[in-house]
Order: sequence, then structure tokens, then C-alpha cells
Amino acid sequence: MKTFSPRAIENRLRTQIIGKKIHMFSELDSTNSEAYRMAREGGDEGEVVVADRQLRGRGRLGRPWLSPPGVNLYVSIILRPPILVSNAPLVTLMSAVATAKATKVISGLQPRIKWPNDLLINNKKVAGLLNEMRGKAGKVEFIVLGIGINVNMTMGLLPEEMKFTATSLKEELGYDISRVEFLSALLQEVDREYQAFSRGEAGRILRQWEEFSQMVGKLVEMRSFNEVIRGRVKGIDSNGSLLLSAPDGSERRVIAGDISQPGESPDMKPELDAKSFDS
Ligand code: BTN
Repeated sequence: MKTFSPRAIENRLRTQIIGKKIHMFSELDSTNSEAYRMAREGGDEGEVVVADRQLRGRGRLGRPWLSPPGVNLYVSIILRPPILVSNAPLVTLMSAVATAKATKVISGLQPRIKWPNDLLINNKKVAGLLNEMRGKAGKVEFIVLGIGINVNMTMGLLPEEMKFTATSLKEELGYDISRVEFLSALLQEVDREYQAFSRGEAGRILRQWEEFSQMVGKLVEMRSFNEVIRGRVKGIDSNGSLLLSAPDGSERRVIAGDISQPGESPDMKPELDAKSFDS
């Protein structure tokens, strides 16, 4: 078994921005909380926080994120893109694409992105993203990309109600995956996609997102701000909004909400948490 240490990861990385400094902890309350604290105190773009276990791993909407030791990956990355807050959802799409690519490279499985940022394999959730931002005067000061991946967790560790909706790579493949290799691939992919984003290649990111989502052309139901919108998915725009073609022929842009396909139970997903935003 490969050692899960910053040195083991750093030795493998050929990145420009991400992972120059990796802070690894045996346990933390939450890697996002720690990375947010670091960013507030001047932490550099590309610094990475990893924990073997989280005591209060956070999912969206205040939900807990199951974070047992020794099996999964809990990773947070500090970014400081010089962009407007209104463009920040693109960074979330970028991180979902990077996570999907790393999953595909390492496992050979085909993951699907569920809008905006869940990763599914065989219709079960294998990874989730919680991205938090601080902005000032309409500009992004920093974003913390929080990525949780169920790598080698066995289903016995899941509470009963999650057994039909969650999975891990080990569960799907039948063998263990090296967390060192997965983390290296993940940081490599985030680095590559973030550079593309910084070069202005948002269009390429959006196309990849659409390919991974397999949603284009599908009929969906959205619950967004107390409104239910039914329509066919046309794609995603450069702000990360989902574009729907409504039955009356109008086009609807949905920035946050709760998407489901017929037969699926809905799940509320705001795409980026403005944890602290001074305008
Ligand atoms: C979700 O699907 O609700 C998002 C889950 C995000 C979990 C990750 S694990 C690493 C980082 N630290 C946290 O406390 N949460 C994110």
C-alpha cells in the first residue's frame, strides 16, 4: 500500500499551480473550513488541504458528509481567480469536469455529472463538491473547492437510507484504488482545467461538462426558488446556468435548484455557496 503523505503526492505531481503546497492532516473538522481559514489569512492559490478523516465533513445545505478514516478522499483547494462573482459558477463546473476526468482515468469507469456538481456512477453518488467563495465589491477574493470522493468505502459504513443512493469506486470495481494515485490524478486534472479556464477556454469546459452530464435533450423537472419548471435540457451557458426549453417554446435559465428526471427523487443543489460576500 502506498504511503498517504504529502511527499508521496508532491513527487508525482507535474502541475503548474495546484498542489505546490499540500497540507495533510490525520483529522480535521472539515477540510473546507481549514482551507477557508487559510485563505482568509493569505493562503496561496493552489494550496491543498487533505484529511484522512473529517469530524464534521460538510455537504451542501448543511448536510453532513460521511468522512470515515483510511478509505476516502477529502480535499479542499484554494483558488484566487481574478474574476467577477457572477462568473464563479464556471469554476464549479470546471471542478466537476476535473473530478469526472480523474475518476475516469483512474477507474476506467464512466462517471456522469448531475447538475451542477454531483458525480454519479451507475446512478449512484460517488463524489460531491462543496465550493465556497469569498467576494468583495463583486469580485472573487478566493474560492475553496471542496471535493469528497468515496474511494474504498464499503457499503457497510453507510447508513441504511444511503445504501441505494451512494456508492464507492471499490464497490463498483471490486478492488481497492490507491488514494495517492487518485489524489495525484485529481490535482493534475484540476490544474489542467484551471489553466484552460484562465486562458479563457470556458467553451471547452462547458462542452466537456455537457458530455459528462449526458443531460442534453432529456426532459427534466426543476425546482428553483419555489417554482417548478419542466423542460428539455438545451445545455449550459457560460455562467453555469442550465438552459431549458419549456413546453411553451420559451428558453429558461436556471442558476440554482433541484433537478430530477422522471422517476428520480429530487435533491436541492445550489451550485456555489457564497459563504462570505461583502459588496
Ligand atoms: C455534497 O454533495 O453535498 C457536497 C459534499 C462535499 C464534501 C467535501 S469532503 C471535502 C470538503 N470538506 C468538507 O467538509 N466538504 C467537502
